[in-house]
Amino acid sequence: MPRPKLHNANILAEFQNLNYGNVPEQMNPIWLPVTEGQLPTWLNGTMYRVGGGRYKLGDLDHSGGGAAFTIRHAFDGLPYLYRFQFNSKDNTVRFNSRYLAKDFEKNLLASNGRGAVWFGESKNMSTWNRLKDFASRVDHLALRPKSSTPTSLSIGITATPNYPLPSSSSSSSTRLAMVTKSDFNGLQQVDHDSLEPQKIYTYRDYDKRLDGQLVAAHHHYDYDTKESINMTMNVGGKPTIQVFSINPQGKTTILASIQRGKDKHNTPVRSFYYHSFFTTKNYVVIPVYPMYYRNYGLDLLLNGSVLGGLEWEANTPTYFHIVDRHHGKGHVTTLLAPSFFAFHIINGRDYQDEHGNILFELDCAAYNGDMIYETHAFGDIIRASDYDRYVSLCKGKRKRKNNGIRIPPGHVTTFGDYRRYTLEWKNPHRTTTNTALATFETICTNFDFPRMNSAYCFKEHRYVYGCQVQPPTRERGERYTLVKVDVQQRVTKTFELESHHGYLCSEPIFVSAKDSDDEDDGVVLSLVNVFDNRGSQYDHCYLLVLDASSFTTIAKINIGAYIAPTFHGSYVDDASLETGSFN
Ligand SMILES: [Fe+2]
Repeated sequence: MPRPKLHNANILAEFQNLNYGNVPEQMNPIWLPVTEGQLPTWLNGTMYRVGGGRYKLGDLDHSGGGAAFTIRHAFDGLPYLYRFQFNSKDNTVRFNSRYLAKDFEKNLLASNGRGAVWFGESKNMSTWNRLKDFASRVDHLALRPKSSTPTSLSIGITATPNYPLPSSSSSSSTRLAMVTKSDFNGLQQVDHDSLEPQKIYTYRDYDKRLDGQLVAAHHHYDYDTKESINMTMNVGGKPTIQVFSINPQGKTTILASIQRGKDKHNTPVRSFYYHSFFTTKNYVVIPVYPMYYRNYGLDLLLNGSVLGGLEWEANTPTYFHIVDRHHGKGHVTTLLAPSFFAFHIINGRDYQDEHGNILFELDCAAYNGDMIYETHAFGDIIRASDYDRYVSLCKGKRKRKNNGIRIPPGHVTTFGDYRRYTLEWKNPHRTTTNTALATFETICTNFDFPRMNSAYCFKEHRYVYGCQVQPPTRERGERYTLVKVDVQQRVTKTFELESHHGYLCSEPIFVSAKDSDDEDDGVVLSLVNVFDNRGSQYDHCYLLVLDASSFTTIAKINIGAYIAPTFHGSYVDDASLETGSFN
């Protein structure tokens, strides 16, 4: 008997045609031949990538009833973890993948979708149902979290090998483990080889003070001190930002607890949406963008959607809270910049000028905060045959808002700007407040998903790799291409496929060649999804290995006849568990 459809009257469904389906799971490893080219002899590590792999839920029992619940926002796909182990000697790649949220899907369907928190999914429902949904969400998530199984949450924005486990963790002989992370306070530990989920835990297991609901999916790793750094924050009327570091043994240090700015007005901190933050050699720099949770986070709980709970205050500055890392001084000052928003940080460094002032050079992919409403269409790659839909999406007038989400949503026609912010902390040994707004320089436009040589973290770097959006035409599908930015020379080099199909190159991970001192001596790894102009039955994905210096193809490895969207990944060198490029 067909499964009854859930109440999933998605307000975006009529406007959107996200090309994502369900990815087949490859639990048993397979050895894939390099289909074109030769892997460099030194490339013998493992890349992990994670991203939404299931968008049509409820078909696992093969009842024939079709999907009972369709996810429309690219950020909300239920996560798959992919593992690619390079073997240059055999010129093969060992590949396996794993669905990470089986029980989450099961529980979601059993509860009729009630109580979940999404990034962008939103449902039309009556006031009574909304209140029941709210009560269920508070009961399940905020006040009395239920005991969890290893797959009972959806945690799959970043994938981090060799992450330190809490020092209290008794089950593990090793203190480092493979984890997936997200923007809420939960981590999923998985087996680094089979990718089998092992348990879900929170930052409270590191230190009970880390009890905020929010955390950054992107932590920082200091390759010198071997510390992992992150921040939690609670949603509510009096939020506290807890900035902390974890050493390889899991020992956790609270670097600062911030409730007010050290600006002229001691401005109280408000709950805001964040996905990352800056770190330099000596400081953690927390940029509080004016992307606030409306009504102290009440709207987030009511709507069950991050987007439905946010408001962008274009005329409010960005507050940078500066936290000392090494001397126990905590929150030392607050510096201001005009409003902006960034999902992704590129790099940060601090240095002193001849007058004793401390300067911060902070690179990121910056946006006007209004863009958050266009994330609905992220990765909605337009085929050439679908060009008219693209034109109508771009022309569509935004007539109304529903739970804070604009209807109809726009299409992503460009990424943000690669900006370098310079912040000046004048007279750091005096108590005077700093009032001047920071300045910024635009290095290039249409840029996001940045990666660089990790040996240059917190130092002056020259090269950054990322993605760009190229609009479709009637003859050519939309393309998310790769770009290499030479920050010193202010030039960019684009990598495009020789193809008229639409395609999406995922975040390019840079891997340094062994024993090389040249910053761009290495390869760039990207998982490419091809949206065939002839139709989705021809879609496929493959792994691309580029020479990072010339930005040309070295090797390709066919993965499968499906679309495997991923946002982020990490590479770990097999020879040394502590080297690589982590996210
Ligand atoms: Fe991200």
